[in-house]
Amino acid sequence: MSAGLFVAGTDTGVGKTYISCLLLHALAARNKAVVGMKPIAAGCENGRWQDAELLRFASNVDVPLNDLNPYALQAPIAPHIAALQENVAIEIAYIGQCYDRLTRNAEVVVVEGVGGFLVPINAHETTADLAKALDLPVILVVGMRLGCISHTLLTVQAIKHAGLCLAGWVANCVDPGMLAQEENIAALQQKVDAPLLGRVPFAETLDLTQQAQRIEVDKLIQIIGQGD
Ligand SMILES: Nc1ncnc2c1ncn2[C@@H]1O[C@H](COP(=O)(O)OP(=O)(O)OP(=O)(O)O)[C@@H](O)[C@H]1O
Ligand SMILES: [Mg+2]
Repeated sequence: MSAGLFVAGTDTGVGKTYISCLLLHALAARNKAVVGMKPIAAGCENGRWQDAELLRFASNVDVPLNDLNPYALQAPIAPHIAALQENVAIEIAYIGQCYDRLTRNAEVVVVEGVGGFLVPINAHETTADLAKALDLPVILVVGMRLGCISHTLLTVQAIKHAGLCLAGWVANCVDPGMLAQEENIAALQQKVDAPLLGRVPFAETLDLTQQAQRIEVDKLIQIIGQGD
């Protein structure tokens, strides 16, 4: 049986890719066959889409890049606008087919959303609709910086409004200069009705193995319902 997780963020640039990679590392360290997925990547640098590459690198099963990243848009802008400019029709049904293929190769598929939770992906749908169609528990990455409490509570409301299960959240300390960080985390723990799955400090290096130890992997395995 394969399981999936949908990684949403309080905003763009809060560490969805970074934390998705940590989740993949943490689960791989428990001998799970894992693969990341970036359904929609917007922003090409030198012919490469960084999120898809990082997720592929953090995976321990090899899958076709087109399944891992079905939609790769050139412009680093909101996906529905990039898609319109590039004449691409983003279809959730096609993403679902790619996701299903990934589940045949991996025990856990970690799906990274795009931008903030309610960003449109086409004229009628948002990433919330994508998470809903894939029917996955959501893990919310909170970028710990000034303003994160309101961003978090708004996103939690949107997740619940979509009828999705908020399975947990991660405090990702993206701003090393943030004042009252602990107090902010404590306030969020009080207000968010889902377990904190890890406090990830700001890291100068890209050593993900060490950072992955900040993820409470037992709680994660409980969420995906796969005991060791
Ligand atoms: N805990 C951390 N310590 C140090 N750097 C971090 C940490 N978390 C994220 N970063 C860095 O912050 C930047 C933004 O992170 P990331 O790309 O994961 O965000 P994102 O939410 O996936 O963005 P996007 O919306 O573009 O997909 C990256 O350069 C990443 O390496
Ligand atoms: Mg990303």
